[in-house]
Amino acid sequence: MKNIKARKAFTVSIADAPHVKEADYFGVVSGNNTKDKFERSGLTSEKSSMVDAPIIEEFPICMECEFIEYQDGPYGCGVVGKIVNVTADEKVMKDGQIDVSLVRAIAFDPYTHGYYEVKERVGDAFKDGMQLKK
Ligand SMILES: Cc1cc2nc3c(=O)[nH]c(=O)nc-3n(C[C@H](O)[C@H](O)[C@H](O)COP(=O)(O)O)c2cc1C
Repeated sequence: MKNIKARKAFTVSIADAPHVKEADYFGVVSGNNTKDKFERSGLTSEKSSMVDAPIIEEFPICMECEFIEYQDGPYGCGVVGKIVNVTADEKVMKDGQIDVSLVRAIAFDPYTHGYYEVKERVGDAFKDGMQLKK
């Protein structure tokens, strides 16, 4: 948190299936006691041109954010930010847009401790539900 507040910025990267090991490593080891955590992961970073925070080069999508506020409450804490830029690997782009089915994003299931790959589009938002609207 200290870094986010001081820099007034942070980035959120979407990890993909080919990098599940590295993504899990970021979660099981803390930079507080492993100072070279990032180097040990084998991943590389570049500085965002929009905000004072790094972009992980191997992950396919990165949201570059300005820090808005930190929220702490009895049920947990959270960071609110404003996305000022999104970068995406060419290989997940199709017709000038991110194609989520190419991203191979991973999702975490906290109940079974599994990582799952997000694979295919199964519907159209704001449209499919209209079939049930009478
Ligand atoms: C799958 C997974 C999910 C996690 N989810 C959370 C979470 O929701 N909130 C949290 O505070 N820590 C969570 N953690 C633990 C942090 O990732 C852990 O404390 C990590 O060491 C923090 O790294 P840092 O100190 O370098 O920021 C999770 C870890 C893993 C492996």
